[in-house]
Amino acid sequence: MAGTKQKKGNSAHKTLADRADKFDCYQKSVQTPDHEIEFFEQAYREAFRRKPYSLREDFCGTFAVCCRWVASHPKRTAIGVDLCGETLQWGREHNLAKLAPTQQKRVRLIEQDVRKRNRPAADILAAQNFSFWIFKTRAEVIEYFKIARSNLNPQGIMIMDMMGGGECYEEELIDKRTIKKGKKGFKYHWEQASFNPVNADASFYISFKFADGSKLKRAFEYHWRFWTIPEVREMLAEAGFRESHVYWEIEDEDDEDFGEWKRSEDAPSDPSWICYIVAVK
Ligand SMILES: C[S@@+](CC[C@H](N)C(=O)[O-])C[C@H]1O[C@@H](n2cnc3c(N)ncnc32)[C@H](O)[C@@H]1O
Repeated sequence: MAGTKQKKGNSAHKTLADRADKFDCYQKSVQTPDHEIEFFEQAYREAFRRKPYSLREDFCGTFAVCCRWVASHPKRTAIGVDLCGETLQWGREHNLAKLAPTQQKRVRLIEQDVRKRNRPAADILAAQNFSFWIFKTRAEVIEYFKIARSNLNPQGIMIMDMMGGGECYEEELIDKRTIKKGKKGFKYHWEQASFNPVNADASFYISFKFADGSKLKRAFEYHWRFWTIPEVREMLAEAGFRESHVYWEIEDEDDEDFGEWKRSEDAPSDPSWICYIVAVK
């Protein structure tokens, strides 16, 4: 996870930001492992009419999804892959440690580039939170998709999320959300700092702001290429995937917090949207 070093002073008057854990704030702000797993099951069932058992989480960070996956069924296994040793270590201490020993044994962590072939292959390969946007050319993305495909079982799917919409091309836009209200709450800021229309390079930052006014400013930073859905589907096809589906969230009229993810070939031009692309091996 791209990040800045967190300041730790010895002062007796530490601010809330000094005491905060940036990985904990990150997980509380941007991750919903239960929701992800529910979606993975739906997407796999719609591709192969059976239950998936093995997961590979590329760019896994603190691998909260791997941990939730093995806890969701006694036969499930997970492989988490990330380059960053510090982030993986945080996950071992804070996520893996919370699992039962039998569940822990079913999580394997690999500190390496995602562009490597590993065995065993998986039913589902997930690359979440736009992480593959770190690859900025078609050649790099296609190379990654080919390797990802080879890391899947013959009945395998690759799942990635995408964002977009007119607002996403605006600069210096900050999306603010309050995570848990009350004394222990904090504010999450997603900052869209720059977008270059010539090459679609974009920079984003995550900051956290606390009740005493202290901040973890730009605790995480991302410098990505802003890929679009048709570009990604074309590259998936070039990498050999048999088909790809876009899952769009169809709102529930009775409950605005919950929608249903449905395969869609057309969607409204919302100013800001998130969707999934599911590629079938
Ligand atoms: C945006 S974070 C995503 C973390 C997590 N998947 C999530 O959904 O919140 C991107 C992660 O990808 C890792 N990363 C970046 N490039 C990588 C590469 N080429 N191979 C493996 N991991 C990489 C970073 O260390 C970081 O943890």
